[in-house]
Amino acid sequence: MGKLILNVDTGIDDAFAIILLNKYRISPEFIVAASGNSTLKNTYRNTTGITNLLQLGCPVYPGSYKPLVRPHYHEDFHGENGIGCYHFEEVSLENQPNGIIKMYEALLHDKYTIICTSPMTSLGLLLSMDSGIKKNIENIVIMGGAFGITQYGNGNMGNSEFNVFYDPEAAKIVLGADINETIISLDTTMNPELAIYNMPQNTKRTPLDNFIYKTTEFMLKKHRTFELHDPIAALSFINPDIFEFINGNIDVDSNGVTRFEKNRNSKKRIAVALNNEDYINQLVNKIYDIG
Ligand code: BDR
Ligand code: CA
Repeated sequence: MGKLILNVDTGIDDAFAIILLNKYRISPEFIVAASGNSTLKNTYRNTTGITNLLQLGCPVYPGSYKPLVRPHYHEDFHGENGIGCYHFEEVSLENQPNGIIKMYEALLHDKYTIICTSPMTSLGLLLSMDSGIKKNIENIVIMGGAFGITQYGNGNMGNSEFNVFYDPEAAKIVLGADINETIISLDTTMNPELAIYNMPQNTKRTPLDNFIYKTTEFMLKKHRTFELHDPIAALSFINPDIFEFINGNIDVDSNGVTRFEKNRNSKKRIAVALNNEDYINQLVNKIYDIG
């Protein structure tokens, strides 16, 4: 499967993406946490908290703390501390090695796939550092964009999708780069059949189950639905065969609106559908430990 780096802004569904990978025994070499769903302080603490809960033993490094040219901005979608009403122990950002430099150093020596379920700021900075670095990036799996290819791809921040909306300049660099990319956009993840509306039933109560149930409950109470954007992106890495993709070129405007033009020779493939039964078995049941 090759070596893996994650870029996250944990975030409840980012945490679920890390959990899903762990349930498939897929370990990233390290994780870069950036601002997005919440401040860097919060997303870094939340990412460290979830890796500790999973006993992953994989380092978490802080990446970008704000978009490339805009100020930090977030909605209260994932709660005040970015992870519902769950409380992880505070950790200090001081003296932590920088995650963008860590990605750069890793890519100097080896080939990696990167899964990015956050705004693309850290990757935009990485790709701006050295044009040669992309030769060691095998694929970037990105949760981002709303292309209007399906009836669900209309945006969740006006006409744009949050990760792109947060930092359109970075998204333009990353989605325009000459790199293989797999894009999981709202066109797939906003399909209402893929969301959770009721608490899945499982009787186990490990500390991990407790986290899963508390955060699911938070999402259901606050939003009445829980959309699993980031775990769906992780699933496309675990099992791309259950997705339907089309290839094309992507453009991003300064409002974070993403456009797509079909081109079978493009290195960008966008998911447009997913087998629902496989999704339930391979993602929902796996996370909630059902069946
Ligand atoms: C994306 O925005 C964030 O709120 C989620 O974590 C996901 O990465 C969905 O638009
Ligand atoms: Ca995210």
